[in-house]
Amino acid sequence: MLGYTASKRNITMFKKLLSWKTRVVDTVKMSLKSLALIWWTSPKLTILMLLTLVISSSLTAISAWLLKRLVNDVVVIVKTGNPLDNTTIVLGISCILCNILPFILEPGTGAIRSTLSDLLIADIDKKVMKQASKLTGLAYFDKSQFYDRLRFLQGNTTLPESTIWLLSSTLSNGITLISLLSLTIVISPFIPFAMVLVALPHLCAEYRHHKHAYDTTWDQMPESRQLGYFHGLLFNIKSVREIKLFNVGAHFINRYRELFDTVFKRVLSVKTSHTKSTVLFTLLHGVGLTLLYIYVVLISLQGKITVGDVAMYFSIVAGLQRTFWSLTQKAGQLMGSSIDFHTFWSFFELTPTLKTAASPQEFSHINRAVEFRNVSFRYPGSEETIFSNISFSINAGETLAIVGENGAGKTTLVKLLCRFYDPTAGQIFIDNIALHQYRLGSLRQKIAPVFQDFSHFFLTAGENIGIGDVEQVNNEPAVIQAAAQGQADTVISQLSDGYETLLGRHFDGGTDLSGGEWQKIAISRAFMRDAKILILDEPTAALDAESEHALFQRFKILTEGVTTLLISHRFSTVRMADRILVIDKGKILEEGTHEQLINKSGKYATLYGIQSEKYQS
Ligand SMILES: Nc1ncnc2c1ncn2[C@@H]1O[C@H](COP(=O)(O)OP(=O)(O)O)[C@@H](O)[C@H]1O
Ligand SMILES: [Mg+2]
Repeated sequence: MLGYTASKRNITMFKKLLSWKTRVVDTVKMSLKSLALIWWTSPKLTILMLLTLVISSSLTAISAWLLKRLVNDVVVIVKTGNPLDNTTIVLGISCILCNILPFILEPGTGAIRSTLSDLLIADIDKKVMKQASKLTGLAYFDKSQFYDRLRFLQGNTTLPESTIWLLSSTLSNGITLISLLSLTIVISPFIPFAMVLVALPHLCAEYRHHKHAYDTTWDQMPESRQLGYFHGLLFNIKSVREIKLFNVGAHFINRYRELFDTVFKRVLSVKTSHTKSTVLFTLLHGVGLTLLYIYVVLISLQGKITVGDVAMYFSIVAGLQRTFWSLTQKAGQLMGSSIDFHTFWSFFELTPTLKTAASPQEFSHINRAVEFRNVSFRYPGSEETIFSNISFSINAGETLAIVGENGAGKTTLVKLLCRFYDPTAGQIFIDNIALHQYRLGSLRQKIAPVFQDFSHFFLTAGENIGIGDVEQVNNEPAVIQAAAQGQADTVISQLSDGYETLLGRHFDGGTDLSGGEWQKIAISRAFMRDAKILILDEPTAALDAESEHALFQRFKILTEGVTTLLISHRFSTVRMADRILVIDKGKILEEGTHEQLINKSGKYATLYGIQSEKYQS
């Protein structure tokens, strides 16, 4: 029983130690990372910043030491009646300079600081964008935690900057404290220890407060996020229409208020207990310091220290107390922000999830076929198997249509072919070479996609099309040709500034397009590419059946010889394909030409029958 209690206590103590240790280690790591960040931003300014930091934080101690020497000299002069010597004059001038120097340094340090801040914030933004594009697959983009991180990151781009300033305050306080404490050794070796001892309870209380405050913040993170959600709802274009129609604005404001009240109560209790402990420990600290004052006066009366020593001691005690206080606060805040920094930094530690070949080869064209061999797939983090063990192929230059109900997995096949994900099992081959053996960039460059949910870029019409082949984005004839092929030319000719018209209402002066017009822009974007694989994933859902049919006929002529994967719900379009694949519940149900499948009288024939009846009636 006794052993059990003892070991339980050990575990609790170990946990405490571990969490404290982890915090210290985390803080040190964070500090080093922040320093590295600022160093890469500007090595010169970083050195300047560190230099001014060391100088300004040692000035208090230097000036106190000069004061001691000066007072002692003056005492000797008064006692002996000797004239002022040069040393005393230099001491006096130095003393004055030490007191003026901080004011002279101030504007310089301010300028360095704000320049470094601006540079650092811009650097972080660039780093975030780079990291997001480095993640070549979509695995992370499917996870809500990823967006949580991203949101956190966007709300905290100034975190490294504020960490740097916390760190520099901590360092500067540390330097001041050590230099002042070492001065007091001269008076009596007992004083620095006594000073630390007197400050210790206060330090511990402050540390406990910061721990408590950050634990509370951490515990309340879900509520804080919910607060942000309610706040954002009323401004979100996606939710604002329903909120107005259902008249639920006041309801959400109430939800916000209720939630805020609970959050605020906890924050207030932390603050109140902090105020109480601050008053108590400041008082204790004050009593301790008064006792030390008395001790110093006593030993000076005994002649153990000089008048200069006493003057020096009196001049630094207030500074020492302030520095102790500030150091605890800053170090506490620094340790606390290491939690946030951890979340911040974890974004940069995400590594691409796609397989890479040791020596990937360039993809240029398809000689024989694209083959899905025994492919199984489950989305990362999901339990649901979308495909298990499916095999099919698309021959070079062929158009393969995929038919299946909503959610059958058609788009997922497209995503696998674009290598947004790797199959969970099995592989996709092009000309007998596994997809991941090709350099990803070269493969994607040869794929022209028109996705079901294509993007509306808030750029000019010309750029919207041109980025289909980003190197040709300024090649006007190429853009005009692609626009003609995708029939966006007629849309653009009606815009006020033609190809220079800014699209979308996101920015001032932008022109919005209809769903069908945006589609033509997206299709033209695909035509910018010298593609070997064309992907059409229900790109014409906004068009009527007749226009879709006409468009696909154009596609067929314009993309002669390009291997095409076509997804459509319209059988008038689907029947134009060379071959058709019917998928259902992750399996291939039927495969063949339109005629073969009709003759088979299976699922395809039934669906085709239903749709043609509908058109005839
Ligand atoms: N990012 C994702 N994460 C998890 N499941 C997904 C994701 N995207 C699609 N799914 C699921 O995969 C299945 C197939 O979706 P999809 O390929 O889009 O179907 P289709 O294009 O045939 O309508 C659906 O059940 C869908 O819910
Ligand atoms: Mg789909």
